[in-house]
Amino acid sequence: MNSELNLRPLAIALAAALTLAAATVIVVAAGLPAYAAEAAMPAAVPVAERTWMDTSLSADRRAELALKAMTQKEKLSWVLGWFGSDFGDKKRNPAALPFSAGYIPGTPRLGLPALFETDAGLGVASQATKTPRERTSLPSGLATAATWDRELAYNGGAMIGAEARASGFNVMLAGGVNLLREPRNGRNFEYAGEDPLLAATMVAQQIKGIQSNHVIATMKHFAVNDQETGRFILDARIGDAENRMSDLLAFQMVLEQSDPGSVMCAYNRLNGAYACESDYLLNQVLKKDWGYKGYVMSDWGAVHSTVAAANNGLDQESAWEFDKTAYFGVALEEAVANGHVPQARLDNMVFRILRAMFDKGVVDHPVAEGGAIDFAAHAVVSRTDAEEGMVLLKNAGGVLPLKAGAKKIVVIGAHADVGVLAGGGSSLVYPVGGSAVTGIGPASWPGPVVYHPSSPLKAIQARAPGASVVYHDGVDAAAAARAAADADVVLVFAQQWTGESVDAASLSLPDNQDALIVAVAKANPKTVVVLETGGPVLMPWLGQSAAVLQAWYAGTGGGEAIARVLFGEVNPSGRLPATFPVSASQLPRPVLDGDPKDESKRFTVDYHEGAAVGYKWFDLKGLKPLFPFGHGLSYTQFAYSGLAASQKDGKLQLRFKVTNTGAVKGKDVPQLYVAPQGAKWEAPKRLAGWDKVELAPGESREVSVTVDPRLLAMYDSGSKSWRIAKGSYKVQLARSAADADAASINLTLEARTFKP
Ligand code: BGC
Repeated sequence: MNSELNLRPLAIALAAALTLAAATVIVVAAGLPAYAAEAAMPAAVPVAERTWMDTSLSADRRAELALKAMTQKEKLSWVLGWFGSDFGDKKRNPAALPFSAGYIPGTPRLGLPALFETDAGLGVASQATKTPRERTSLPSGLATAATWDRELAYNGGAMIGAEARASGFNVMLAGGVNLLREPRNGRNFEYAGEDPLLAATMVAQQIKGIQSNHVIATMKHFAVNDQETGRFILDARIGDAENRMSDLLAFQMVLEQSDPGSVMCAYNRLNGAYACESDYLLNQVLKKDWGYKGYVMSDWGAVHSTVAAANNGLDQESAWEFDKTAYFGVALEEAVANGHVPQARLDNMVFRILRAMFDKGVVDHPVAEGGAIDFAAHAVVSRTDAEEGMVLLKNAGGVLPLKAGAKKIVVIGAHADVGVLAGGGSSLVYPVGGSAVTGIGPASWPGPVVYHPSSPLKAIQARAPGASVVYHDGVDAAAAARAAADADVVLVFAQQWTGESVDAASLSLPDNQDALIVAVAKANPKTVVVLETGGPVLMPWLGQSAAVLQAWYAGTGGGEAIARVLFGEVNPSGRLPATFPVSASQLPRPVLDGDPKDESKRFTVDYHEGAAVGYKWFDLKGLKPLFPFGHGLSYTQFAYSGLAASQKDGKLQLRFKVTNTGAVKGKDVPQLYVAPQGAKWEAPKRLAGWDKVELAPGESREVSVTVDPRLLAMYDSGSKSWRIAKGSYKVQLARSAADADAASINLTLEARTFKP
């Protein structure tokens, strides 16, 4: 199909070419193993003799048996992946699903199906901008994290996994859990915020939901791929203990809670070594210390060697077309033949892939394209996620929920007449019916900018039949202010588009939107700001606005979700999964490292804050954020009482009571933070747990939370163990990480050392 236009690979190829300062990125055909041409291909094993198909055997045993039945060339075919779209002058492998992320040929002779890979965390994405797959998009990962609701995260995963299966995919490249260390990171919207416990819990639920469809999920990007600027070349510097208590802890907890079939190693280097050839990351931490049994696939274009990558733990080269050559093609075959890569290592690479396929049901439940998708039901899953993740940041004088009697409502900006903004890059899910706005943003990948066709304006109009609800595009701030002056309430939609491969140039809203908000708020103090942003933004106009609703990228049902929250059909219950700073000067790196215009100069990012990420950094430095981690208002109020602690099976258990003291039903997210009073930690306190509870007015609920002992401990690199120091610890029951009225108790913990 010549009309398949995918500019994305070219963007990556360009970066790779610059990175390597190589003349061109050309893969020679000679680098590919010639499986098809294998002359002495053995005959197919009769179905009755395929012992590995016996479902009563363990996944390990089945993988072992299947591996034994393979030729060397068949083994090699499992470790080399192909792109699912054209890549520059290279045509897509015709066996791959069109516009898909990747393909790994199966071994039909043994009844082993091919792997069909799709991005990613928000739904089934497409790699090309023409005739893409149109599927349901969840709200951004950050929005899902903001729900703090495990069940919703699972439901979202189950929904997108079902669409993947119905579309013929059995591997989803979903499970992004890089910590939000850098609020300008262009991919924050794909991840789950700054706290390891919150991020891991939510992403693990998504992975469980995806894998409930017999589709392999992929935890990524391993590890410390925490900014996009210079992602192919940067060297992330962080100590082992600090990493194990922050970024690595998030990955470790995801593994424990959801057992993803695969892990994607990242583009960047970590302490000198490329993530996809880091013995430390892949062999030591992931496979040895954590006992991971699945397989490691590379990110697209993240492989730089054959021998080092294979021996240091990479199991599968993804989309070889993105790399300088097919490192796991003929080069690997030769490396095994001459002993540079042990045969046992190749066998283990294949074993891990096969084991994941048996373990997750990929072999026993083969996928097929063209399955039915219940788009209406899936839109409700997405909308529910979006509305529960919206965070009411400010609500002065109870301007929200909107009152039924309003006569005039003015809606301004962000194309709110037709749709809601989506983030760009490989995770973008093309909307059913196409983008509501076309022709804006970067012409090539990660653009153009896409809007899901769910109109906030129409959803607002439907809920205010007696009012005049008008839209102004907000381009001319003075004209927008004039239009807003006599309204009962004004809703300014403000947006910040972010995308993969580019970080936000600054934390300020782009395109003079700050000035627009100021002008409108001056003309009409009843100005409500609805934010559609990839992550935290600055709000110099906060004091002038009456209310602020953080709506993130709201996905397929976003317009409806926003209107339902604004009108109080849904009582807002989202809580921030990341700290919103007052200014960039409060960040560990006030200026982003690297040069977005020059990706050829290698540089380091010194994560000197160590494990003190987000609110921990703010606590440590005594900084007051604009809005703290965990913050979010409701249309009702909640009171807490009876905080108490006990120990059960060596684990700390905390309990308390939460009561809805307001007039309407609502959901609350009481949060528990722990802080040692004598022991040395990386920061004053850590999130130790939470619950999300729905309560009718006057209703109370007892809540009990078990604390993961690692959240009370420091990691000791020498002994590779966690250590709880004997002493007194303060437990806070709080509404956010900066709740001055938090209830607290003190308790004494005994010294304890444990692994892993
Ligand atoms: C991204 C991955 C994605 C892959 C395949 C890469 O550029 O970093 O997250 O899964 O492409 O599209």
